[in-house]
Amino acid sequence: MNAIYIDTTNSDEQRRDLLYGGQVIVHSPTPSSLALVEFARQMLTDAFSGADPETAQFHLPVDRYAAILAELKPKFIHHPKSKEFIQGILRETGCDLSKTYFDVPRMRTSTSDQYLTTGIAYAFHPHRDTWYSAPMCQVNWWMPIYPIVSENAGAQRLRHLQL
Ligand SMILES: [Fe+2]
Repeated sequence: MNAIYIDTTNSDEQRRDLLYGGQVIVHSPTPSSLALVEFARQMLTDAFSGADPETAQFHLPVDRYAAILAELKPKFIHHPKSKEFIQGILRETGCDLSKTYFDVPRMRTSTSDQYLTTGIAYAFHPHRDTWYSAPMCQVNWWMPIYPIVSENAGAQRLRHLQL
């Protein structure tokens, strides 16, 4: 039976056992997760020249939209601030920093209405990350940059975590 644990007080090791057993853990925002979101939003706003990134697909040609994301995503992923915020999130959620390895944060994007279905905004089919060489001990963390709506994020992410 799968469960969703919200702000569990379990230890880091207990949380890993839950996750490896297929459970889902939800954390409330922390100062560093809020800072990471704000940082991502600012980078998005800058990249789209002040236009609303959530609706930019309705105002931009596909190639321009794809070019913006192709430049923005690596910039966000490898920015030193992004890594600092990730370390902060791990610390604020009780992870043992001396035993925790982390990867750079990926920014996932998707569009609607068949606007962009390949390349930079391709929606991956359901999968296990280990199919693509992820280590078996990897734990994925997801957080929304913009408020989640039921049509685009929740099911995808839970499906991802439960595979
Ligand atoms: Fe994945």
